[in-house]
Amino acid sequence: MTDSSLPPGLRNKLLNPIFYLLDPYRFYEKVFARYGDTFLFTGPNGPVVVTRDPEHAKVIFTLESAQIGIFPTDAGTDFIVGKNSVLLMTDEPHRRERKLLSPPFHGARMRAYAQVMQQATRAEMKSWSAGQVVDFQRAMQRISLSVIAQAVFGLSDPEEVKRAQRFSAEYMDNLNPLMLFFPSLRKEYFGKSPFPKMQSARRNLEQILVEEIHRCRARAPGEDILSMMVSARYDDGSMMSDEQIRDELLTLMLAGHETSALGLAWLFYHLYHNPETLVRLRQELSALGNSPDAESIAQCRYLDACISESLRMYPIVAETFRKMRVPLQLGPYTVPPGHAVSVSAIGLHHNPAIYPQSMQFRPERFLERKFSPFEFVPFGGGTRRCIGAAFAQYEMKLVAYEILRHCELAPANTRPIRPEMRGPTFGPKGGVPMKILRLTE
Ligand code: HEM
Repeated sequence: MTDSSLPPGLRNKLLNPIFYLLDPYRFYEKVFARYGDTFLFTGPNGPVVVTRDPEHAKVIFTLESAQIGIFPTDAGTDFIVGKNSVLLMTDEPHRRERKLLSPPFHGARMRAYAQVMQQATRAEMKSWSAGQVVDFQRAMQRISLSVIAQAVFGLSDPEEVKRAQRFSAEYMDNLNPLMLFFPSLRKEYFGKSPFPKMQSARRNLEQILVEEIHRCRARAPGEDILSMMVSARYDDGSMMSDEQIRDELLTLMLAGHETSALGLAWLFYHLYHNPETLVRLRQELSALGNSPDAESIAQCRYLDACISESLRMYPIVAETFRKMRVPLQLGPYTVPPGHAVSVSAIGLHHNPAIYPQSMQFRPERFLERKFSPFEFVPFGGGTRRCIGAAFAQYEMKLVAYEILRHCELAPANTRPIRPEMRGPTFGPKGGVPMKILRLTE
């Protein structure tokens, strides 16, 4: 197979990631305009065919597990979550692990966490006072970590939750995105680089998780995921080791709270920079009466559209990678085994053929038409689609409702905030500072 079957694109291994990191939105605008909706990006982790074409996204998201592997490699990712993470599993072990982990994040089991979500929001609001400026990125992280800690391993001791919050913030803050591109940065360098700080925060977090595992092994099993993992048995009758459970807990903790928190921080940013949207949303929420149940809140169509529009405009996870084990036909192109492909959420969500005036925050677009799972991809797709998608959207709705209902806010500054890569996620550069004007009961 020759290179000529690959799409045209960029071959400078060093400059490509730098331009991408500086401003992926501008970078993509230029390359898609120059090369078309599918192009070749060559970086230090190898060649990646990136697409914003929904037809190509469909081909990628309907691949079977046996056809895809992990990008860049397990070893290139296990410094983030540990080698026993579902994120790094493939084939049958991956399918089995998803089956084990998914149920609490859907349906009635998910809805049972409504109270936890509302209480975590109220506890956070209690720490606010009128006149104070609160960084909503940090505040949303505190809420979502408290939620995930309770949902995943029944951690309810506030002191333990606070410890976990501190280490997890330290971990994320030191997860420099350059480490993802350049393996040479994943070294200690006499303790001077962000890597040892990140690894030390990770070890502290893992210590908390291992203590929880031991506590769980000593008590009667509950409904939480940790209890399930502790009592799960493989086909050969063996049980999950502490190390396996620890890696999975860390994955759920990080994948399940950092993302939702950034999604919420962006939501508040957009709402308070688009006053007409906020008025319309407040009208919808007021119509629910004084103390609506969680289900009524979750059914609000405009709230749902605001969350979708926020996840569209600045997706938290910008790319969904698959490493090809077999040749892949994408329209006129053939991607050889060993190459990676990426369905680009930034690319698709700003594809002018799907979302005209894409930099305008306009939730109405989600009421006017339905977008296919290959046009709107904030949670990826196919056999590896995010297992927490329903949970995250439910949480975002309940948290947003509580804050909008009990708080009057204003942006602490009016300048636009741009997305910044924070490891595998994108968040608001410098946080989202909000001024608390008034708090009501
Ligand atoms: C707004 C919030 C969230 C966003 C934007 C998000 C986004 C994503 C994306 C894009 C992927 C990759 C999907 C793919 O490869 O096709 C993913 C995977 C995953 N997410 Fe989420 N996520 C969010 C919340 C959550 C929550 C609350 C949990 C639950 C604990 C969670 C757990 C996971 C797990 C375990 C995976 C790996 C799935 C696999 O490899 O099979 N996420 N997420």
